[in-house]
Amino acid sequence: MKVNGQDFRTVWLQGSSVFLIEQNLLPFEFKIFEAKSYKDTCLAIKTMLVRGAGAIGATAGFALAQAFLEAPSKAAKAKKEIEATRPTAQNLFYVTNRVFNSKDPVAEAQKIADEDVAACKEIGKLGNQLIRAGMKIETHCNAGWLAFVDYGSALAPIYTAHRAGKKVFVYVDETRPRGQGARLTAWELKNEGVPFKIIADNAGAYLMSKGEVDLMIVGADRIAANGDVANKIGTLEKAVVAKYYGIPFYVAAPSSTVDKNCPSGQAIPIEERSADEVLYQTGPGNQKILVAAPGATAINPGFDVTPAELITGIITEYGIIKPTELTKLLFVKHFSAIITTKTRR
Ligand code: MRU
Repeated sequence: MKVNGQDFRTVWLQGSSVFLIEQNLLPFEFKIFEAKSYKDTCLAIKTMLVRGAGAIGATAGFALAQAFLEAPSKAAKAKKEIEATRPTAQNLFYVTNRVFNSKDPVAEAQKIADEDVAACKEIGKLGNQLIRAGMKIETHCNAGWLAFVDYGSALAPIYTAHRAGKKVFVYVDETRPRGQGARLTAWELKNEGVPFKIIADNAGAYLMSKGEVDLMIVGADRIAANGDVANKIGTLEKAVVAKYYGIPFYVAAPSSTVDKNCPSGQAIPIEERSADEVLYQTGPGNQKILVAAPGATAINPGFDVTPAELITGIITEYGIIKPTELTKLLFVKHFSAIITTKTRR
């Protein structure tokens, strides 16, 4: 993706350092962070300097490659540390297992990052088929290029449609508590020149009831074998309302997000994040501002699970499939082999 006319990926490995866009500073400041050791990279994932399922996965792969470069004897311990940074995004575990079991960890980590880019590009092309000119599309959180190595998942079809000259408009859920929609998705869409408006999370149902939303596309952090989807907190509410008003609700995610060992959404570990994210907001310079009654406490589940029955389709790099078809697909050895038609619906 281009930032100020220059091509960037969200994260990359150069020599023994991992470079990543410091997402905590966006949209106010664009800065690249250099993680010189696997421990630095772990901390970057944990503190959400880098976030979003695909970007977390690629960064985890680079972190493990760094550990191998530092000393192969460190790798097993490093793998455990990396896997303890964020529990929900399946991509992280998919990547650490692949890199750990490969003969060339650096090459494997690079390959995985490239695969992420290719998968998202394909998701963009396939998802574009669902978009008609003039559509108003709602999205939740940030499943754009910042959440992956490039292109994104939920936003990729929108970018493809926009570049193809289709008139599209995006309603961006602000996505409290951390505001990934208001901060990151809005920043990306502005960069791309896609027309949009940020909406308060609570405004979605009203807009849907008024016929203002034609399509909803969200990302995923983990997809269970039965097609249940864990995504940023608030997604479930949108899916319930979309079903009520008959609005197509799509999930866009690469196959690396599917956890075939997880039978249903109930088994997906949900990250419990700090209450401070609810009680405080940050602005330019990351200054914390209390936005709740002094002394109040809060709970902060980071994700929720949308049952498969509320999801119209999952846009993968191999095709658009019904969530219920996932189980069938997982019985075959290669996920890709079975989906031959590019636009199953
Ligand atoms: O906590 P985050 O920002 O890492 O959350 C992940 C997300 O960005 C969303 O849940 C997103 O919709 C799916 S990740 C591609």
